[in-house]
Amino acid sequence: NLPNSVSIIEVGPRDGLQNEKNLLPTEEKIAFIHKLKEAGIKEMELTSFVSPKWVPQMADANDVITNCLDETRNFVLAPNRKGIDRLYETACKAVAVFVGVSETFNKKNINKTTSESMEELTPIIGELKEKGYFVRACISTSFYCPYDGKMNEEDVVRLCQQFASLGVDELSVADTNGMANPQEVYSLFTKLKVALPETLLTAHFHDTRGMAIANVFSALQAGITRFDTSAGGLGGCPFAPGATGNVATEDVVFMLHQMGIETGIDLTKVVDAIAVIEPHLSRPIESKYYRLHSN
Ligand code: HMG
Ligand code: MG
Repeated sequence: NLPNSVSIIEVGPRDGLQNEKNLLPTEEKIAFIHKLKEAGIKEMELTSFVSPKWVPQMADANDVITNCLDETRNFVLAPNRKGIDRLYETACKAVAVFVGVSETFNKKNINKTTSESMEELTPIIGELKEKGYFVRACISTSFYCPYDGKMNEEDVVRLCQQFASLGVDELSVADTNGMANPQEVYSLFTKLKVALPETLLTAHFHDTRGMAIANVFSALQAGITRFDTSAGGLGGCPFAPGATGNVATEDVVFMLHQMGIETGIDLTKVVDAIAVIEPHLSRPIESKYYRLHSN
């Protein structure tokens, strides 16, 4: 029951670089993004409108947006009113809001409780939809919280339903700290498919414990056909201690292509894109496909 094609949402320029120790020169980020687009990426998180004091890596958001918008779907992350006001000053038409299932995580990440964030975001989402924006909601700590441990499936489903009732176009359900196993993934996504038949569901896996690729396969079996992935496997939330990179775009695309599932992505060009930023990073690229195929 596997699909014939899968959509890849590239999060490398945002999730991948937000946690990078070295501050990447803006021109290198822009070159990376352009190369990823040349590889056939049609949906991408470009950057985020968050506090440059909290996440200095995203301080150049405006320059990145100005140089990278095109006819494909380009997301900018924004957690609050200030972020949305910054978005309105740009030509970007797709936004990702983000909230944690875990109150403790949300507080560490956005300095608000989950309910305070929902209170702030509720009118904002209505406004964004009225203005014609594509809205995705990223649901952090959908499996485990780095501070509070295992989350309840019912709480995740309830938060997702709350967003769906506000009219979001897509939910990206995240294993923020890479603790989920394939059984938990299958169970949650099966429930979400039933609870939210009208909303696009996307899976977002971090690979902290090496289970992300298995979790992708498990989500596929549960009927998920959209995945957030990061070129080179970079990534991690600065406020989720111990969390490492996202599942690598090239490893996911390789697995899918080997199984006859189309993505529209040219793997050789993904490798070229990673090669642009590798010399500027604080650590080597660890993805299996890149290690085999880079020079
Ligand atoms: P705060 O300190 O509570 O904010 O931070 P505040 O409202 O009290 O304002 C303090 C200052 O920040 C003010 O500036 C505001 O203007 C400014 P000052 O007067 O001191 O000069 N400010 C902003 N500046 C720019 N853009 C904004 C903004 N908002 C306020 N949007 C805040 C609250 C949300 C800003 C802060 O906590 C923050 O920036 N957090 C960053 C969180 C983040 O980027 N996390 C990583 C992304 S989420 C993620 O990675 C998870 C995901 O991948 C899925 C998964 O894996 O789980 C999506
Ligand atoms: Mg993430």
